[in-house]
Amino acid sequence: MKWSQFFNTSIGKKLLVGATGLFLCSFVLVHLAGNFQLLYKDEGKAFNAYAQFMGHNSLIQFIAWGLKIVILLHAFIAIQLTFSNRAARPVKYAVNPGNATSSWFSRQMAVMGSILFIFIVVHLAQLWGKFHYGEMPTKTYEGMTEPLKDLYAVTYQLFENPIVVLIYVIGMIGLSFHLIHGFKSACQTFGLNHKKYNGIINFIGVWVFGIAIPVGFAIIPVLIYFNR
Ligand code: HEM
Repeated sequence: MKWSQFFNTSIGKKLLVGATGLFLCSFVLVHLAGNFQLLYKDEGKAFNAYAQFMGHNSLIQFIAWGLKIVILLHAFIAIQLTFSNRAARPVKYAVNPGNATSSWFSRQMAVMGSILFIFIVVHLAQLWGKFHYGEMPTKTYEGMTEPLKDLYAVTYQLFENPIVVLIYVIGMIGLSFHLIHGFKSACQTFGLNHKKYNGIINFIGVWVFGIAIPVGFAIIPVLIYFNR
Protein backbone atom coordinates (compact mmCIF):
# COMPACT_ATOMS: atom_id res chain seq x y z
CA MET A 1 0.00 0.00 0.00
CA LYS A 2 1.28 3.49 -0.89
CA TRP A 3 1.70 6.11 1.90
CA SER A 4 -0.99 8.28 0.32
CA GLN A 5 -3.41 5.32 0.40
CA PHE A 6 -2.41 4.47 3.98
CA PHE A 7 -3.19 8.00 5.20
CA ASN A 8 -6.63 7.68 3.62
CA THR A 9 -7.53 4.72 5.83
CA SER A 10 -9.07 5.35 9.23
CA ILE A 11 -6.00 4.01 11.07
CA GLY A 12 -3.74 6.24 8.92
CA LYS A 13 -5.94 9.23 9.70
CA LYS A 14 -5.94 8.39 13.43
CA LEU A 15 -2.13 8.29 13.37
CA LEU A 16 -2.01 11.68 11.63
CA VAL A 17 -4.43 13.22 14.16
CA GLY A 18 -2.39 11.73 17.04
CA ALA A 19 0.99 12.88 15.68
CA THR A 20 -0.21 16.40 14.86
CA GLY A 21 -1.98 16.55 18.26
CA LEU A 22 1.21 15.65 20.15
CA PHE A 23 3.14 18.26 18.13
CA LEU A 24 0.51 20.85 19.14
CA CYS A 25 0.84 19.75 22.80
CA SER A 26 4.56 20.56 22.62
CA PHE A 27 3.72 23.94 21.06
CA VAL A 28 1.37 24.93 23.90
CA LEU A 29 4.14 24.23 26.44
CA VAL A 30 6.62 26.52 24.64
CA HIS A 31 3.96 29.18 23.95
CA LEU A 32 2.88 29.31 27.60
CA ALA A 33 6.49 29.62 28.82
CA GLY A 34 7.01 32.57 26.42
CA ASN A 35 3.70 34.19 27.41
CA PHE A 36 4.56 34.24 31.11
CA GLN A 37 6.99 37.04 30.25
CA LEU A 38 3.89 39.21 29.81
CA LEU A 39 3.60 39.19 33.60
CA TYR A 40 7.10 40.64 34.21
CA LYS A 41 6.92 44.21 35.49
CA ASP A 42 9.62 45.42 33.07
CA GLU A 43 7.48 47.47 30.66
CA GLY A 44 7.65 44.62 28.18
CA LYS A 45 11.43 44.57 27.65
CA ALA A 46 11.82 40.77 27.95
CA PHE A 47 8.57 39.89 26.15
CA ASN A 48 9.11 42.31 23.25
CA ALA A 49 12.73 41.17 22.78
CA TYR A 50 11.50 37.55 22.78
CA ALA A 51 8.74 38.34 20.23
CA GLN A 52 11.27 40.17 18.03
CA PHE A 53 13.62 37.16 18.13
CA MET A 54 10.81 34.65 17.41
CA GLY A 55 9.44 36.81 14.61
CA HIS A 56 12.76 37.26 12.81
CA ASN A 57 14.59 33.95 13.20
CA SER A 58 14.25 32.06 9.89
CA LEU A 59 14.16 28.57 11.44
CA ILE A 60 11.50 29.61 13.96
CA GLN A 61 9.46 31.28 11.22
CA PHE A 62 9.67 28.09 9.13
CA ILE A 63 8.38 26.08 12.14
CA ALA A 64 5.72 28.73 12.81
CA TRP A 65 4.29 28.34 9.28
CA GLY A 66 4.45 24.55 9.65
CA LEU A 67 2.53 24.98 12.90
CA LYS A 68 -0.36 26.69 11.13
CA ILE A 69 -0.48 23.92 8.50
CA VAL A 70 -0.44 21.33 11.30
CA ILE A 71 -3.37 23.09 13.06
CA LEU A 72 -5.42 23.00 9.82
CA LEU A 73 -4.47 19.39 9.06
CA HIS A 74 -5.29 18.25 12.61
CA ALA A 75 -8.71 19.94 12.57
CA PHE A 76 -9.59 18.80 9.03
CA ILE A 77 -8.69 15.12 9.52
CA ALA A 78 -10.25 14.99 13.01
CA ILE A 79 -13.54 16.29 11.57
CA GLN A 80 -13.38 13.76 8.72
CA LEU A 81 -12.86 10.96 11.28
CA THR A 82 -15.75 12.20 13.44
CA PHE A 83 -18.12 12.16 10.45
CA SER A 84 -16.97 8.76 9.21
CA ASN A 85 -17.35 7.30 12.74
CA ARG A 86 -20.87 8.71 12.93
CA ALA A 87 -21.74 7.36 9.48
CA ALA A 88 -20.49 3.90 10.52
CA ARG A 89 -22.92 4.01 13.47
CA PRO A 90 -26.16 5.24 11.88
CA VAL A 91 -28.50 4.07 14.66
CA LYS A 92 -28.35 6.33 17.70
CA TYR A 93 -28.21 4.74 21.13
CA ALA A 94 -31.77 4.28 22.36
CA VAL A 95 -31.38 5.24 26.01
CA ASN A 96 -27.93 6.59 26.70
CA PRO A 97 -26.28 8.77 24.04
CA GLY A 98 -22.90 7.48 25.16
CA ASN A 99 -21.74 4.08 26.16
CA ALA A 100 -19.67 2.57 28.93
CA THR A 101 -16.37 2.85 27.10
CA SER A 102 -16.67 6.35 25.62
CA SER A 103 -16.23 8.97 28.32
CA TRP A 104 -18.03 12.29 28.25
CA PHE A 105 -14.71 13.95 27.33
CA SER A 106 -14.18 11.71 24.31
CA ARG A 107 -17.73 12.44 23.03
CA GLN A 108 -17.10 16.21 23.29
CA MET A 109 -13.82 16.19 21.31
CA ALA A 110 -15.35 17.64 18.13
CA VAL A 111 -17.29 20.35 20.02
CA MET A 112 -14.36 21.39 22.24
CA GLY A 113 -11.96 21.19 19.29
CA SER A 114 -14.26 23.50 17.30
CA ILE A 115 -14.43 26.04 20.18
CA LEU A 116 -10.64 25.91 20.34
CA PHE A 117 -10.28 26.31 16.57
CA ILE A 118 -12.52 29.41 16.58
CA PHE A 119 -10.49 30.76 19.51
CA ILE A 120 -7.23 30.23 17.59
CA VAL A 121 -8.55 32.02 14.47
CA VAL A 122 -9.71 35.04 16.54
CA HIS A 123 -6.48 34.98 18.57
CA LEU A 124 -4.25 34.92 15.48
CA ALA A 125 -6.17 37.81 13.92
CA GLN A 126 -5.87 39.88 17.12
CA LEU A 127 -2.19 39.33 17.97
CA TRP A 128 -0.15 37.41 15.41
CA GLY A 129 -1.77 39.20 12.42
CA LYS A 130 -1.31 42.59 14.01
CA PHE A 131 2.31 41.86 15.00
CA HIS A 132 3.38 40.65 11.56
CA TYR A 133 1.13 42.59 9.19
CA GLY A 134 -0.55 45.43 11.09
CA GLU A 135 0.31 48.84 12.53
CA MET A 136 2.32 48.45 15.72
CA PRO A 137 3.58 50.97 18.28
CA THR A 138 7.32 50.73 18.98
CA LYS A 139 9.45 51.23 22.09
CA THR A 140 13.19 51.74 22.60
CA TYR A 141 14.59 50.29 25.83
CA GLU A 142 17.73 51.33 27.70
CA GLY A 143 20.79 49.59 26.29
CA MET A 144 19.10 48.91 22.92
CA THR A 145 19.79 50.92 19.80
CA GLU A 146 16.85 49.72 17.69
CA PRO A 147 13.19 50.20 18.73
CA LEU A 148 11.13 47.03 19.28
CA LYS A 149 7.53 46.46 18.20
CA ASP A 150 5.53 46.89 21.41
CA LEU A 151 3.50 43.65 21.34
CA TYR A 152 3.40 43.82 25.15
CA ALA A 153 1.42 47.10 25.07
CA VAL A 154 -0.90 45.77 22.32
CA THR A 155 -1.61 42.62 24.39
CA TYR A 156 -2.24 44.67 27.55
CA GLN A 157 -4.59 46.93 25.61
CA LEU A 158 -6.48 43.90 24.27
CA PHE A 159 -7.07 42.57 27.78
CA GLU A 160 -8.54 45.88 28.97
CA ASN A 161 -11.79 44.59 27.48
CA PRO A 162 -13.63 42.18 29.85
CA ILE A 163 -15.41 40.51 26.90
CA VAL A 164 -12.04 39.61 25.34
CA VAL A 165 -10.87 38.25 28.72
CA LEU A 166 -14.05 36.14 28.89
CA ILE A 167 -13.49 34.83 25.34
CA TYR A 168 -9.96 33.78 26.34
CA VAL A 169 -11.23 32.03 29.48
CA ILE A 170 -13.91 30.16 27.48
CA GLY A 171 -11.28 29.24 24.85
CA MET A 172 -9.13 27.79 27.65
CA ILE A 173 -12.06 25.72 28.96
CA GLY A 174 -12.27 24.29 25.41
CA LEU A 175 -8.51 23.66 25.48
CA SER A 176 -8.76 21.92 28.86
CA PHE A 177 -11.57 19.52 27.91
CA HIS A 178 -9.94 18.84 24.52
CA LEU A 179 -6.56 17.96 26.02
CA ILE A 180 -7.88 15.90 28.96
CA HIS A 181 -8.97 13.27 26.44
CA GLY A 182 -6.72 14.21 23.50
CA PHE A 183 -3.33 13.60 25.10
CA LYS A 184 -4.33 10.16 26.42
CA SER A 185 -6.02 9.21 23.17
CA ALA A 186 -2.94 10.16 21.08
CA CYS A 187 -0.70 8.08 23.37
CA GLN A 188 -3.05 5.11 22.92
CA THR A 189 -2.98 5.54 19.13
CA PHE A 190 0.79 5.10 19.30
CA GLY A 191 0.40 1.90 21.30
CA LEU A 192 1.30 3.34 24.71
CA ASN A 193 -1.60 1.54 26.32
CA HIS A 194 -0.03 -0.56 29.04
CA LYS A 195 -0.76 -0.79 32.76
CA LYS A 196 2.83 0.25 33.43
CA TYR A 197 2.38 3.61 31.65
CA ASN A 198 -1.37 4.31 31.92
CA GLY A 199 -1.06 5.98 35.35
CA ILE A 200 1.58 8.48 34.23
CA ILE A 201 -0.16 9.14 30.88
CA ASN A 202 -3.43 9.84 32.68
CA PHE A 203 -1.68 12.09 35.17
CA ILE A 204 0.08 14.14 32.46
CA GLY A 205 -3.11 14.28 30.34
CA VAL A 206 -5.36 15.45 33.14
CA TRP A 207 -3.12 17.47 35.48
CA VAL A 208 -0.53 18.93 33.09
CA PHE A 209 -2.34 19.37 29.74
CA GLY A 210 -5.92 19.37 31.02
CA ILE A 211 -5.53 21.64 34.05
CA ALA A 212 -2.13 23.33 34.62
CA ILE A 213 -1.61 24.56 31.04
CA PRO A 214 -5.13 25.92 30.37
CA VAL A 215 -5.18 27.58 33.84
CA GLY A 216 -1.70 29.02 33.13
CA PHE A 217 -2.94 30.51 29.83
CA ALA A 218 -6.24 31.78 31.29
CA ILE A 219 -4.57 33.43 34.28
CA ILE A 220 -2.57 35.79 32.01
CA PRO A 221 -5.52 37.85 30.61
CA VAL A 222 -7.28 37.68 34.00
CA LEU A 223 -4.24 39.02 35.92
CA ILE A 224 -3.59 41.68 33.28
CA TYR A 225 -7.25 42.80 33.49
CA PHE A 226 -7.31 43.02 37.29
CA ASN A 227 -3.80 44.45 37.76
CA ARG A 228 -3.99 47.35 35.37
C1 HEM B 1 -4.45 33.10 26.79
C2 HEM B 1 -3.24 33.38 26.69
C3 HEM B 1 -2.50 33.62 25.40
C4 HEM B 1 -1.79 34.75 25.13
C5 HEM B 1 -1.62 35.98 26.02
C6 HEM B 1 -1.20 34.56 23.82
C7 HEM B 1 -0.41 35.50 23.20
C8 HEM B 1 0.08 35.40 21.89
C9 HEM B 1 0.81 36.42 21.20
C10 HEM B 1 1.21 37.76 21.80
C11 HEM B 1 1.07 35.96 19.95
C12 HEM B 1 1.84 36.68 18.81
C13 HEM B 1 3.32 36.39 18.93
C14 HEM B 1 3.96 36.10 17.63
O1 HEM B 1 3.32 35.93 16.60
O2 HEM B 1 5.22 35.95 17.65
C15 HEM B 1 0.53 34.62 19.84
C16 HEM B 1 0.62 33.80 18.74
C17 HEM B 1 0.05 32.55 18.64
N1 HEM B 1 -0.74 31.93 19.57
FE1 HEM B 1 -1.14 32.61 21.43
N2 HEM B 1 -1.55 33.33 23.32
C18 HEM B 1 -2.38 32.71 24.25
C19 HEM B 1 -2.96 31.45 24.13
C20 HEM B 1 -2.86 30.63 23.03
C21 HEM B 1 -3.40 29.29 22.92
C22 HEM B 1 -4.14 28.58 24.03
C23 HEM B 1 -3.10 28.82 21.68
C24 HEM B 1 -3.40 27.49 21.05
C25 HEM B 1 -3.97 26.49 21.64
C26 HEM B 1 -2.38 29.85 21.00
C27 HEM B 1 -1.92 29.75 19.71
C28 HEM B 1 -1.13 30.70 19.09
C29 HEM B 1 -0.54 30.50 17.76
C30 HEM B 1 -0.70 29.28 16.86
C31 HEM B 1 0.21 31.67 17.49
C32 HEM B 1 1.05 31.98 16.25
C33 HEM B 1 2.46 31.57 16.60
C34 HEM B 1 3.48 31.96 15.56
O3 HEM B 1 3.15 32.09 14.41
O4 HEM B 1 4.65 32.11 15.94
N3 HEM B 1 -2.23 30.94 21.84
N4 HEM B 1 -0.10 34.32 21.04
